Amino acid sequence: MKILLIISGSVAAFKACELVREFKKKDAEVTCLLTRGGAEFITALQLSSLSGTKTYTHLWSEHDADGMEHIHLSREADVVLVAPASADIIAKMANGFADDLATTVLLAANKPVYIAPAMNVEMWKKPATQRNIKQLKADGVNIIEPGKGALACGEEGEGRMAEVGEIVKAIRK
Ligand SMILES: Cc1cc2nc3c(=O)[nH]c(=O)nc-3n(C[C@H](O)[C@H](O)[C@H](O)COP(=O)(O)O)c2cc1C
Repeated sequence: MKILLIISGSVAAFKACELVREFKKKDAEVTCLLTRGGAEFITALQLSSLSGTKTYTHLWSEHDADGMEHIHLSREADVVLVAPASADIIAKMANGFADDLATTVLLAANKPVYIAPAMNVEMWKKPATQRNIKQLKADGVNIIEPGKGALACGEEGEGRMAEVGEIVKAIRK
């Protein structure tokens, strides 16, 4: 199985490293794509070292063969997973934005898309976020629901990214 893993700007981004390792243990091939926010939390080098392949970051890259990575990346994958999915990328997806490599790939994707939201409880509960989630469900996006508990910001509640094992299970199913 080939997985395109998109990592967006959440404090849970470090868990993407564990996700890559777990998928690889299950013989899946993982290619990573970091958003600008995601790259504030982890590096492309970390992800490439674990995945064993190039990590993509930019839409306007001069080094790609034909500059069409925004099309090829989902064509070469069996599934696209956004984990963690920030409130920002969820809002962009729900509204069809395509202003960076991740959102352009997602809009051009022809494969099943899964997202694992991760954010502060108030961000998660906000009507805007809930509207966006409802829209994504209606659009056929699979939501791996966040859990409740202690959040990195010190607050408590819903918004914790689903456990790595749970995400792996959802994708393999
Ligand atoms: C320390 C820190 C932690 C953050 N954690 C989250 C988070 O867990 N979830 C979230 O939706 N946004 C979080 N944000 C805000 C996003 O990083 C911000 O909205 C960013 O624009 C998202 O970028 P993206 O579109 O690449 O995901 C955090 C910001 C900072 C500075």
